[in-house]
Amino acid sequence: MRGLSPRESEWLLDRAAAARRVVVLSGAGMSAESGVPTFRQAQTGLWERFDPTMLATPDAWEADRPLVWAWYAWRLGLVRGVHPNAGHTALAAWGRKARVDIVTQNVDDLHERAGSQVLAHLHGSLRAFRCEACAAPYDGPIEVPAEPVERLDPPRCPDCRAAIRPGVVWFGEMLPSGAFDGAVDALLEADLVLVVGTSGLVHPAAGLPDIARGHGVPVVEVNPQETPLSAGVDLSWRITAAVGLPTLVDRLIEP
Ligand SMILES: NC(=O)c1ccc[n+]([C@@H]2O[C@H](COP(=O)([O-])OP(=O)(O)OC[C@H]3O[C@@H](n4cnc5c(N)ncnc54)[C@H](O)[C@@H]3O)[C@@H](O)[C@H]2O)c1
Ligand SMILES: [Zn+2]
Repeated sequence: MRGLSPRESEWLLDRAAAARRVVVLSGAGMSAESGVPTFRQAQTGLWERFDPTMLATPDAWEADRPLVWAWYAWRLGLVRGVHPNAGHTALAAWGRKARVDIVTQNVDDLHERAGSQVLAHLHGSLRAFRCEACAAPYDGPIEVPAEPVERLDPPRCPDCRAAIRPGVVWFGEMLPSGAFDGAVDALLEADLVLVVGTSGLVHPAAGLPDIARGHGVPVVEVNPQETPLSAGVDLSWRITAAVGLPTLVDRLIEP
C-alpha cells in the first residue's frame, strides 16, 4: 500500500484482517479533507486573525463571550455545510464487518454522519450546548449567521438566564465524565489501534496510544506528518486519512 514498504503493508493487513476489535483514535486531521481546518492550519476570512487555541479556552469565554460564541456559531455552520470524507466512510464500512470503536477528539459529527457509532467524543460536541451556570442542556434555537460575524450574543438559559455555552471541552477543562474511562476500557480489549490525524499534543487524549501499547496492543499512526506520538507507535503510515483508510479497508472487505 502506498507509503508503506511491502513488509509493513503485509504486517498491517494481517493485523487488520485478524482484528476482532479495532479502536480508532481520531483527531482534527480526520476531518481536514472534509474541509474542516485543524487547529494548526491557518483559518481563513474573518477568523484568520485569531488563534483557535486561544479562543477555545475558559479565559477567552470569560473575557469576551460574544467573540467566542460567534466563532463557535461559525464552526457549527462550517461543519453543517461539509460532508464525511472517504476516511470516515471507510471506517463506517469496516464497522459493519468488525467491531470498530471510534474515540474522537473531534467536536464535529462526521463519523456519525458516515454511519459509525462513536464510543466517545472526548472533547464534546459542537451540536451540544448547555447553560454555563446551571449546566442544563440547551436545545433551543441557535443562530448561525449566513456571513461570519465577529460578535454574537449567546442565547440565555430558559431556567436561570445565564449564558448558553458550547458543549465542548476547552483547553484546561476536564473531559466529560466517563468518556476517558470508556476509551481506556475499549483500548484494553482492542486487537489493533489506529491513531488518525491527531497531533498528540492535547492531553489527556495524547496518552491513550501509550496505554494501549503498554498492554501489548499494536498501534498504527495514520498521519502525513511526524508527531510526538510517532516514536512510540508500532507503525507510522505517512498518508492522509481520506487516502489511507479506504486503501486499507478496501483490502479487508470483499466486494
Ligand atoms: N473537526 C474538529 O472537530 C476539530 C477541528 C479542529 C480542532 N479540533 C480540536 O482540536 C484539538 C487539537 O487536537 P488534534 O490532535 O485533534 O488536532 P491538531 O490540529 O492538533 O493536529 C492535527 C493533526 O492532523 C494531521 N493531519 C492534517 N491533515 C491530515 C489528514 N488529511 N489526514 C490525517 N492527518 C492529518 C496533522 O499532521 C496533525 O498532526 C482537539 O481538542 C479537537 O477537539 C477539532
Ligand atoms: Zn441555567
